[in-house]
Amino acid sequence: MANTIGSFRVDIVESKESTLNPANVKLPGVALNLLKLFQLQPTAAAVPPLPEGVRVVTAAEYKQAAACLADAFAEDDVVFYPIDTPDRAHWTKQEKWALHVEILEYVTYAHILKGLVTIVGDFEAVALWMPPASDMDDYLTILRSGMWRLNYRLSSEGRRRFFTEFLPLLHDTKHSTLGPRDDASWYLVYIGTSTRGRGKGHASKLIRHVTNQADKDGLPVYLESSNKKNPPIYRHFGFETVRTVYLHRAERNVELDIMVREPKSMEKQ
Ligand SMILES: CC(C)(COP(=O)(O)OP(=O)(O)OC[C@H]1O[C@@H](n2cnc3c(N)ncnc32)[C@H](O)[C@@H]1OP(=O)(O)O)[C@@H](O)C(=O)NCCC(=O)NCCS
Repeated sequence: MANTIGSFRVDIVESKESTLNPANVKLPGVALNLLKLFQLQPTAAAVPPLPEGVRVVTAAEYKQAAACLADAFAEDDVVFYPIDTPDRAHWTKQEKWALHVEILEYVTYAHILKGLVTIVGDFEAVALWMPPASDMDDYLTILRSGMWRLNYRLSSEGRRRFFTEFLPLLHDTKHSTLGPRDDASWYLVYIGTSTRGRGKGHASKLIRHVTNQADKDGLPVYLESSNKKNPPIYRHFGFETVRTVYLHRAERNVELDIMVREPKSMEKQ
């Protein structure tokens, strides 16, 4: 995810194989190589067998899924890190909330296109997953999901926090933590249960849906935990904190626990 969105600001990539002169389109702050854009197609992720009560979100439902996540992450320091900036001190709560929802709509849509988005109930809980060897680094996904709009929707400090600090930190931390297994792991990017749906086992269903498959395939599962309340919950599913990283640009450092779940031997279960 990280590089992905960060990388679309790096702009033109010349195709070594092609002798054609790449045509470029200019978007605010973005120059896209149309050849690269049209060569890349979204790929459907393999979906682990769905347990009762869990289903995959369709593109038509992205707003409902994002609304659930927005509710779940209403108090989250990491999610608000690029929104609650000193240069947006004049914004009302409603304006910040609208941007919060908008960002989650882009992120959710990108995961519908290139990852896996699952829900329980009537959008009571939502999980955004990136399956092994998947990413949303291509221009088509950035365009189709609306992620490119963050280039002008975030403030100048918001862009610095999001593109030059947050995304590279997430990307580099995942890469250095998992090493060669980075591409052979499941990534739980977001999980949230709406306030009305908590404590009913919804998140458990969404997590176990994928951890069961990861166990069968012998793959680790990776996540960043942004809330101090959550590591005990994740430990309950077999995740362990392997390191802690920090975002430094706000008044107080924002902490993220990096957790990895090693695959359980199927024989022991
Ligand atoms: C964290 C969150 C997703 C949990 O959702 P939920 O649907 O209420 O969780 P569940 O009811 O499925 O409970 C999860 C499991 O953890 C267990 N659990 C709950 N609190 C626990 C604790 N303090 N210690 C250990 N286990 C705990 C539950 O017993 C349950 O396990 P079980 O199914 O084996 O009984 C939800 O509180 C949330 O959305 N929080 C805000 C957003 C957020 O922080 N998301 C995570 C980002 S890192």
